[in-house]
Amino acid sequence: MSHTDQIAKPIMAAKARALKGTVRVPGDKSISHRALIMGALAVGETSISGLLEGDDVLRTAKCMSALGARVERKENVKNKSTWHVWGRGVGGLTEPEDVLDMGNSGTGARLIAGLVSAYPFLSVMTGDASLRRRPMDRIIKPLSQTGATFQSRAGGKLPMAISGTSILMPLTYDSPVASAQVKSAVLLAGLHAPGRTTVTEPAASRDHTERMFAHFGVQVEAGPVKPGSTTYQASIIGQPELSGRPIIVPGDPSSAAFPVVAALLIEGSEVIIENVGLNPLRTGLFDTLREMGASIETINMRIEAGEPVADLKVKKSSLKGVRVPAERAPSMIDEYPILAVAASCAEGETRMEGLSELRVKESDRLSAMVNGLVACGVDAIAEGDTMIVRGKGKPPKGHAKIAVNLDHRIAMSFLVLGQVSDRPIEIDDAAAIATSFPDFIELMGTMGATLTIPNRPA
Ligand code: S3P
Repeated sequence: MSHTDQIAKPIMAAKARALKGTVRVPGDKSISHRALIMGALAVGETSISGLLEGDDVLRTAKCMSALGARVERKENVKNKSTWHVWGRGVGGLTEPEDVLDMGNSGTGARLIAGLVSAYPFLSVMTGDASLRRRPMDRIIKPLSQTGATFQSRAGGKLPMAISGTSILMPLTYDSPVASAQVKSAVLLAGLHAPGRTTVTEPAASRDHTERMFAHFGVQVEAGPVKPGSTTYQASIIGQPELSGRPIIVPGDPSSAAFPVVAALLIEGSEVIIENVGLNPLRTGLFDTLREMGASIETINMRIEAGEPVADLKVKKSSLKGVRVPAERAPSMIDEYPILAVAASCAEGETRMEGLSELRVKESDRLSAMVNGLVACGVDAIAEGDTMIVRGKGKPPKGHAKIAVNLDHRIAMSFLVLGQVSDRPIEIDDAAAIATSFPDFIELMGTMGATLTIPNRPA
């Protein structure tokens, strides 16, 4: 059963006492999807530790089984699990017998659409109400040039049917958006084509696909098109022979963002968040918060499976408003909702520019944040693709009920704001949180947060 089929689960956040303790956030969602997909394309066993067991990633695991890979979860000591994938080799996947239901996951849908477009069989893909509203034309357009055919609902919406081709053409694609999902969809198709596939994007989006490819021995070249340029290019040589290998998934910086901001805002807080992935293309939020005056110390920096990882020590800080330039958006694209929460408690104006992509996430996050913050008594507006939040250097009133529209990050952002605002904030449905951070409520509770089921009159 998908979380969308369940009865709505309202949760209320009330003013918390100081957050304390040492915690670990779940595995990185982007890396988890890619680990399962690459495992399915490698021959032999890929073992994955730290995999995010959120709904989005579990759907990708199910898809890999549906495409012929063997995927198993093994429980280890202390509730920890390792996932094992026995892949079929590049070109070895088989036709799925049923519809691929990607639930809430744009990453799963777009990456797997790229993957199956390289196979001469039929795949039919759908998702929940949120995913069925999101644009797929951004991948249909490039992937159609490889020889695959797509039939979608009007406007490139799911459900869609994908018929791959046996004579796949390698592609050179100049993407109009900096999108890791678009880049990865094209590269995953290109992995199956003879010769070189190249994707160019206006700015570098997260490079986990490129790093994971390199980890598996694929020939990858990636970086700025010329020294000093923001335009980024990734290119690979297709039809490699991959063999399974171990993968360690670091904690997700996009999930760490919520306890980090909560600790920065709640009086007397001091927490350590261990094992956070700090890929430089993901750290825009932490850079911005430091510019705002945040005390976030990076300790025990190390490299694990090709990705930088560290522990973060975070203390309550007084924040001031800043301008966040559009160029920074790709490195913190999922973090604007929680940054807007931090901005609402900061002193002065925070101007977040270049946010057009926020409109096509799990919900229209630009509208969701502005409307929700205004309901909580914050001075917030959207001007085109800029979000402006004017804080008063103290928590806002709160006292609002927020509709989260199947968006996990909107849900968690308002549950963080409710822990600092003068009066509680309620969200209408916490179920979507399970897509990326299944134990969010429990983890915040262990640090001292007060997240409860609201009382209803009998
Ligand atoms: C993701 C890419 C991002 C991000 C999403 C995960 C990925 O989207 O918003 O949550 O794993 O590739 P785009 O880079 O496609 O905008």
